[in-house]
Amino acid sequence: MVCSSGIENNMSNQQLVLVTGVTGFIGAHVAVSLLKKGYRVRGTVRSMEKANELIRLNPELKDKIEFVIVKDITEPYAFKDVVKDCDYICHVASPFFISNVTDNKTQLLDPAVQGTLSALEAAITEPKVKRVVITSSFAAVGDYTKDPSSGYVYSEKDWNPISYEEALKTESGLLAYCASKVFAEKAAREWVKEKQPHFDICTINPSYVFGPTIHPMNSMESLNTSNQILWTIINGSKIQPSTQGFETDVRDVADAHVLALNHPKLSGGRMLIPQGPFFTNTMSKILLEKFPEKKDVISDPSDVPFDTKRFTIDNSFSKSVGMKYYSEEQTYIDTATNLWERAKQFQENN
Ligand SMILES: *[C@@H]1O[C@H](CO)[C@@H](O)[C@H](O)[C@H]1NC(C)=O
Ligand SMILES: *[C@@H]1O[C@H](CO)[C@@H](O)[C@H](O)[C@H]1NC(C)=O
Ligand SMILES: *[C@@H]1O[C@H](CO)[C@@H](O)[C@H](O)[C@H]1NC(C)=O
Ligand SMILES: *[C@@H]1O[C@H](CO)[C@@H](O)[C@H](O)[C@H]1NC(C)=O
Repeated sequence: MVCSSGIENNMSNQQLVLVTGVTGFIGAHVAVSLLKKGYRVRGTVRSMEKANELIRLNPELKDKIEFVIVKDITEPYAFKDVVKDCDYICHVASPFFISNVTDNKTQLLDPAVQGTLSALEAAITEPKVKRVVITSSFAAVGDYTKDPSSGYVYSEKDWNPISYEEALKTESGLLAYCASKVFAEKAAREWVKEKQPHFDICTINPSYVFGPTIHPMNSMESLNTSNQILWTIINGSKIQPSTQGFETDVRDVADAHVLALNHPKLSGGRMLIPQGPFFTNTMSKILLEKFPEKKDVISDPSDVPFDTKRFTIDNSFSKSVGMKYYSEEQTYIDTATNLWERAKQFQENN
């Protein structure tokens, strides 16, 4: 067992939630949070093998999730037959890779937009659906043209200003990914304006997501980008990436989706959920202090100073609707413990 989730039978709430991408890093945690709150969960997977692997890793989820196969989320009406009887949809599935992009449009932009529209097209066929919660990102909010040292404070009203033309042309995989989140979110909002469906939507916008992994992975190399940063610090390579940004614990990302399902203040809205800033030096320091016996594998902090004059992200809206966050210490400690454990399992199986 990778992580004990403490799911109990809670019969007080039997509403059904569709989670797209339930075997992904975030999707798996969304399912766990929903089950803890007593929701029923139906999850889309690309294959039954992935679903079985999720259950093998988390035996406490056995018989708790109803799995349905959706092979390609970018096909129009991909989710058509799976929304029956659903009260809510958490649309988590989205393409994410930045290192091997060769065609921004067909690999990133189209799938992100089409996947989101497919979820909405499906929702409109099921009268029970009350809200679709879409996993967006700070990538759709941050303005990459702004001087990072400007001290600007981002909030829910801000948008990444990239144009579609720029997105098509950019040589940067990261920028192409950011653009895919912008255009997926905009497409969803425009779709709702035009179709005036019987449900509303909202988006959850995290930045770097760290936290314990409970989903199927092929190897430590397939770790999600953010956790890869932490893994680099503790994997024995003694490399210190010196990265800074804003972080959220994946368990908080999941709770944000659950909170957003029926909170009236989120109707049509978006919610930025950075817990706070992170700096890889601080990560090393905290982990060295907590795990002195692991000092041979944890990278030493570099002497690159934390750049305090950077932008800030205001998470006060999320707190006003009830978000509570893991401390950075807890996130790093739980993530490191989990990643060492997973690496050990990969080693034992080889
Ligand atoms: C990019 O690389 C990842 C990991 O190696 C792989 O799973 C994915 O299919 C690749 N994407 C494309 C479009 O080649
Ligand atoms: C995006 O697409 C353009 C045009 O096809 C290409 O020149 C550019 O290299 C692509 N960007 C990336 C990151 O692959
Ligand atoms: C995280 O990594 C898994 C593979 O381990 C992949 O299926 C998933 O799409 C990734 N998700 C994100 C948000 O990067
Ligand atoms: C540790 O992570 C870095 C960067 O991700 C990678 O280059 C290196 O090969 C990894 N080392 C081990 C021992 O896994």
